[in-house]
Amino acid sequence: MTKKIETALVHDGRNPTRSYGFVNPKLVRGSTVLYPDMATKLETGRHILEPVDIYGLCGNETHFALESMIARIEGGTHCQVVGSGLAAITVPLLAYLNAGDHILVPDSVYGPTRTFCERVLRRYGVSTSYYDPMVDEAAARAMFQPNTRVLFTESPGSHTFEVQDIPMLARVAHAAGAKVFLDNTWGLHHFQPFTHGVDVSIQALTKYAGGHSDIILGAVSVNTDEDWHWLRLGALELGSYASPDDCWLALRGLRTLHVRLKAQEAAGLRVAHWFAARPEVARVLHPALPGCPGHAFFKRDFSGACGLFGVVFQPAYSAEAVVAMIDGLKLFGIGASWGGYESLVLPTTGTIKRTEGTGNFEGKMARFQIGLENVDDLIEDLEQGLAALRAA
Ligand SMILES: Cc1ncc(COP(=O)(O)O)c(C=O)c1O
Repeated sequence: MTKKIETALVHDGRNPTRSYGFVNPKLVRGSTVLYPDMATKLETGRHILEPVDIYGLCGNETHFALESMIARIEGGTHCQVVGSGLAAITVPLLAYLNAGDHILVPDSVYGPTRTFCERVLRRYGVSTSYYDPMVDEAAARAMFQPNTRVLFTESPGSHTFEVQDIPMLARVAHAAGAKVFLDNTWGLHHFQPFTHGVDVSIQALTKYAGGHSDIILGAVSVNTDEDWHWLRLGALELGSYASPDDCWLALRGLRTLHVRLKAQEAAGLRVAHWFAARPEVARVLHPALPGCPGHAFFKRDFSGACGLFGVVFQPAYSAEAVVAMIDGLKLFGIGASWGGYESLVLPTTGTIKRTEGTGNFEGKMARFQIGLENVDDLIEDLEQGLAALRAA
C-alpha cells in the first residue's frame, strides 16, 4: 500500500517491537558500539552507506528513523540528518565542490548561505555568481560556465518569496552538467523536489518539522545511489552530526506536522488576504497570491503553502514607521526563524542583502510567520499595528 502523507507521518519511522511496545521509538545516545569479535567489526564497517550501527558519528536508530521519514516526505531514496538547517546547506556544498569550481546562487538566497559562499567557498577556490531568481530560460543558459558544478536554488526565496521555475532550471543545469540543489524548507512535502529535477534537497528541520521552536536540525535528501555516495561520505568526512535528542523531538513534531501545517496555511492565507485588502499595503509576497513573483510556478508545482510570507507597504511609509508597527504588536514575537507554533515578525528592509538588483519592491517590507493563535486575535493585533504605522 502506498501510504498518503498523513498516514506516513503517523506510521513511518517507528517500530514498537523495538521500543518495548511503546508507540514512539527509543531515544538512543551513544558513541562507542561494542562488537562480539573483530570479524563482526570489520564486516559491519563495510556498511557505511546503510543504516547500520557502526559508531555514534554514523548515526543510530533514532537518526535512521528520522532519516527514513524525511526521505519519504521529500520523495527521495536517502537522507542524512545534520546539526542545523545551515549545515544542511554547507555540508553538501563542501561534499560536492572542488577548488576551481563555480556555483550559481539566487540573489534571493538565505543570508547565511550567501555568507558561506563569500567567506568559506571563496577561500577554498570556489567562485560564486548570483542570479535573478526569476531568470528566463535563455538567460539561464547563459549563466553557466564550463566549471559550473552546482546550481543552487531556494524556492520561494528568503524574505522576498520569489517562486523559481525549478523544472526549467534543472533542465538547463543538467544540460550544462551541473547538479541542482534546492533549499526546500518552505515547500516541505508541498513541493516534491525529485519529480521536478532536483538532485539534492535541503530541509531546515528547525522550522515546521520541529514545530515548537525548541530544536536546531537539518536534513539533506537525494534520490540516486551516486548522490548518496557523495553526500553520505562527505557528511562523515566533515564530522557532521545531529543530536539524537533533537532528532527524537523532530520525529515527535512530524507526527502532527500535517495538521499544524494545514492550520498555519489556512491562517496565513487569511491574514495574507486581509493585508492585501488594506490601503496601507502595496502588495503581499505570498506565493499563493497573484502579487508574488513566480505565483504561476507555485500554482503549477506546489500542493500547498506554509504560514510564512512578506508584506510590502505603500511607498509613503518609512522603514521607521514599519519598525513602529512591529514594536506595537503584542501577539507577534520579534525574532528569527519560523515554523513554530507562535506568530513572529521581522522587518525585511535594511536586513537583507541583494547584489543583483532584485527584490526591490515598491515600499518597505516585513516578514510574517503566522502561528496557531486564534486568527481574529492576530488580525485585531495587526489592526492596531497598522494604526501605529499610520501614526509614525
Ligand atoms: C530558508 C532557510 N534555510 C535554512 C535555514 C537555516 O536553518 P537553521 O536555523 O536550522 O540553521 C533557515 C533559517 O532561518 C531558512 O530560513
